Amino acid sequence: MPTNPTSNSPKEVASRSAQYTVAVALVAGLGGVMFGYDIGVIADAKKGVEKAFGLETNAGNNLLVIQTIVSSVLAGSFLGALSAGRLCDKIGRRWTNVWGGGFFVVGCLGCALAVTPSMMIAFRVVMGIGVGFSSVAGPLYIAEIAAPWSRGAMVSLYQLAITVGIFLAMLLGIWLTPSDLWRLAFGLGAILGAGLILGMLAMPPSPRWLVGKGRDTMALSVLKRTMGSIPAAEEELEAIKQKVEEESGTNFLKALASGRALKVALVLAIGLAFLQQASGINAIFYYAPEIIEGIGLKDIEFKLTAALSLVNLLATFIAIYLVDRMGRRPLLIGGTILMMLGQIVVGIAYLWLPEMGTGDTTTNEVSIAGIIILAAIFVSVIAFACSLGPLVWLVISEIFPAGVRSVCVGLASSANWVGNFFIAQGSLSLVDYNAGVAFWIFAGFNLFTIAFVWYLMPETKGVELEKIEDFFKGNGAKERA
Ligand code: BGC
Repeated sequence: MPTNPTSNSPKEVASRSAQYTVAVALVAGLGGVMFGYDIGVIADAKKGVEKAFGLETNAGNNLLVIQTIVSSVLAGSFLGALSAGRLCDKIGRRWTNVWGGGFFVVGCLGCALAVTPSMMIAFRVVMGIGVGFSSVAGPLYIAEIAAPWSRGAMVSLYQLAITVGIFLAMLLGIWLTPSDLWRLAFGLGAILGAGLILGMLAMPPSPRWLVGKGRDTMALSVLKRTMGSIPAAEEELEAIKQKVEEESGTNFLKALASGRALKVALVLAIGLAFLQQASGINAIFYYAPEIIEGIGLKDIEFKLTAALSLVNLLATFIAIYLVDRMGRRPLLIGGTILMMLGQIVVGIAYLWLPEMGTGDTTTNEVSIAGIIILAAIFVSVIAFACSLGPLVWLVISEIFPAGVRSVCVGLASSANWVGNFFIAQGSLSLVDYNAGVAFWIFAGFNLFTIAFVWYLMPETKGVELEKIEDFFKGNGAKERA
């Protein structure tokens, strides 16, 4: 590939920029792998943990202890995401990622070596803090490093990394669960955190953060690499400097009080982050084995769950390819419609399968309705992977003005963790009571999401980060491209 730094042919500029930003996105993406690994690992390790700590029966508060071990990571992620915004401003996006990796390493090793359930819970919180840091600093760092024309694809690499993490954990689970090697599964997670620390230390700070700290020369040298040419870098530096000057002295509360724009952007980001969870994607991932068992496919439920996570991974490539070509709105709206339709089909098919819809797993036969349910769940996962999965992380990391961006991304990301927590807690009983009803509820939330995006979300494809906030100054609906 040609890399002559003085050549300004558009093709070479784009190729130089792409090489560099892909490398940056891949390193920051290790945080996404941690995120996904942490979702997937507990699903399979749960049985081994129960056995190790004598929590297998429903006696006493065993169930509560197990539920707390599963969900404590979400509490940690919420706390991590909430504090990561301020940290991203103070120490920078890159160092917040490094700390995220550090917490994850300590949390994973602590879980691997835990000798009591309380130790396990405490270290799951620590793992969660690491993931929470990365869920803010990862997409933010990539969005600020990427060139406008490839920002969508680059931030979507973070989502791809999440799906790789889920898949890896589920794949490992197939081997590790029966052989009681759950401690190894946690221990292996530490490698991801260590990779993030080392990789990030080799990366440059975000140019937007550097300008905010008055380090313009260094910002320019980073921009030369990310934009692929000197003139483009100088132009971008000027735009960033202008914004930073306009925003100097602004803090979050002042900015919030100063007009409509930030309020609308915040409602959009927090709403989208929460609605991504209300789509029910994690009810599928957390409880797929139970759902699959419930439709009569008893012996292959873990393999099919791993297949679901593989499809989730592969379908993310569709979003990576389309997001900077087709734009954010059509992809998000189209994908959410498809996910909703898939869930409606699941809901209808459960009506034909009433005895299984109530969680009866006594039969070993799969009916036509069962096959339809399975196929429609696959369609819903593919639709999520092309839309709500990557697009939510992208939109929340690109719609805010630089001065308050990290605090706002932190708030939106913590709303995502709150949603994740409620879905994890609520869906088990709902799926147990009637899985069909659960899918109708998720379809209802997706209908709301479609209307929400339609009315509130501007098209930000190819627009420079510094110009995106203008969309929210006027009538958002009218200014949609
Ligand atoms: C969500 C996760 C989810 C994953 C599935 C992410 O965008 O935030 O909660 O498990 O997608 O791929």
